Amino acid sequence: MLPPLRFVLCGSVDDGKSTLIGRLLHECRAVFEDQARAAAEASRRYGTQGDATDLALLMDGLMAEREQGITIDVAYRRFETPRRQFFVADAPGHEQYTRNMATGASTADLAVVLVDAEKGVLPQTARHSRIAGMLGIRHVVLAVNKMDRVAWDPARFDAIAAAYEAVATETGITRTQAIPLSALDGGGVTRRAAPAAWFSGPTLLEHLETVEIAPPAGEAAFRMPVQYVNRPNPGFRGYCGRIAAGAVAPGDRVRIFPSGAETAVARIVVWKGERERAERGDSVTLVLKDDRDVSRGDVIAAADDPVEVADQFQAQLLWMGDEPLVVGRPYRLKLHTRETGAAVTRIKHRLDVVDGRTRPAPTLGLNDIGSVNLATDRPLPFARYEDNRTLGGFILLDRRTGTTVGAGMIRFPLMRAANVRWQDFEVTRENRARALGQHPRCLWLTGLSGSGKSTIANLIEQRLVAEGKHTFVLDGDNVRHGLNRDLGFTEADRAENIRRVAEVARLMVDAGLIVIVSFISPYRSERDYARGLFEPGDFREIFVDAPLETCEARDPKGLYARARRAEVKNFTGISSPYEPPEAPDLRLDTATESPERCVDRVLESLA
Ligand code: ADX
Repeated sequence: MLPPLRFVLCGSVDDGKSTLIGRLLHECRAVFEDQARAAAEASRRYGTQGDATDLALLMDGLMAEREQGITIDVAYRRFETPRRQFFVADAPGHEQYTRNMATGASTADLAVVLVDAEKGVLPQTARHSRIAGMLGIRHVVLAVNKMDRVAWDPARFDAIAAAYEAVATETGITRTQAIPLSALDGGGVTRRAAPAAWFSGPTLLEHLETVEIAPPAGEAAFRMPVQYVNRPNPGFRGYCGRIAAGAVAPGDRVRIFPSGAETAVARIVVWKGERERAERGDSVTLVLKDDRDVSRGDVIAAADDPVEVADQFQAQLLWMGDEPLVVGRPYRLKLHTRETGAAVTRIKHRLDVVDGRTRPAPTLGLNDIGSVNLATDRPLPFARYEDNRTLGGFILLDRRTGTTVGAGMIRFPLMRAANVRWQDFEVTRENRARALGQHPRCLWLTGLSGSGKSTIANLIEQRLVAEGKHTFVLDGDNVRHGLNRDLGFTEADRAENIRRVAEVARLMVDAGLIVIVSFISPYRSERDYARGLFEPGDFREIFVDAPLETCEARDPKGLYARARRAEVKNFTGISSPYEPPEAPDLRLDTATESPERCVDRVLESLA
């Protein structure tokens, strides 16, 4: 029996999609709905389902998505015939649901693209095919439905098939099978249509039952992302995960990435005992010969065919967030079992999914697809998506809310950082701190323009210097005169502004200084990112709070007045948002407390 076939059905209700699904389920032995999801959930939870019951390559991402509250309107159904088992993802066909279709397609081996024989190939047909191609689907069935309405006219069918060929070739789809059918009466679906005696090809079901899907070339060598380190007792240490590519047997030499450490497989443990061999799709626990440092998110791979490791990539990104992408903003990235911080450093272009043209774009909105450069906080073991979906497909999450905002496919690593290594020096930050006789820290003042950040920063620094401390103030206006003079006040520019100043502050803390950062820093994502650069306790978020009216009344630089007259654009508090800290280390109320009192409180909090 051939392995189960996962396919996605693309088309709109008008094309007869529900009818077609209904027909397939009705005439085959349909297992109850959403069984597939339940199965995947179970194997994910228990991790040792030996067979290939789980349907998802990006299922982790998808599950995360469901858990995190984005409603993705994709139903998975399972059915089977004596010859094969099927999982079908039913993705809505409306334009605004690109993300749903992509979610369905990301798990599929094949796409059934439905067209109406009367209407022929439509822009949405191209859209569906392009998304399918982008998500790694190489096989398409062009289901030409409602043939009864065109009297099963072979010329009509041929014309549609020929028109589609042109679309398919430019979308990365390499195998197309066109089939004339009528979902309504079942002709061409599960039985031959009498009026289509001229058609020598298979019925839809015959084709689905027999089509062979060759795994991508990149799936030959063994790879398993570690999902979980199992140490039930001191005598046992196993690494659980699902094999993403190739096969493994006891005795095989393997390496662990990103570290590159080498060892061999001692045993393969599964649900009901041990195995002599396991392969792609199997969930197993590997016991290694030597004690190596392995953690969740590492990839165990064939020693003679190493996994690539990089921290900068070019990727295709499908944006799923309600808020547009902000270039430079730190997001969370999940790639197979690994999670890290990541930012889009550049949008190369946005892709028009209908005509296939690319255009420059400053951002990506909901359902947009773009080609982007991506930088991750830590090196990731990965594969190109076209070689391996599991190791090359990722999702992006909002740092604050945890919702999924994007799904991406790694195209290739960017080599610019590949030859750059971290250099260790003998003098450590502890040495420098001791030499200066102080505890280096970053005091991060955030608040509206006119809230009093600079005044307070100034006083803190004076007091610290009087105590013999070594300090520096990084002030928004000042840093924007030099290092950040290329940046304005858009969301993306502010994200970059904060990223740079946070990195500088970290260097200064490494140098042993007490650094006072005085930037509006209006977004939580960037402030969280800044915090993440420091050791716990070395970063203090200090909210310099005053009501907008108070700041506006003070208006030390006359900017509020100009913002009200729309002479200054994107002005924080007026025409650009300020997200107050949810849990600052300290909140100063400059409307009711004197600057001296505020500074006393800051210094007390440090003692
Ligand atoms: S941040 O938002 O990117 O953190 P930053 O602290 O660097 O801002 O710079 C803020 C200073 O730039 C303000 O104190 C003000 O003097 C000046 N400024 C000029 N235009 C704007 C604007 N549109 N919004 C806020 N501040 C502005």
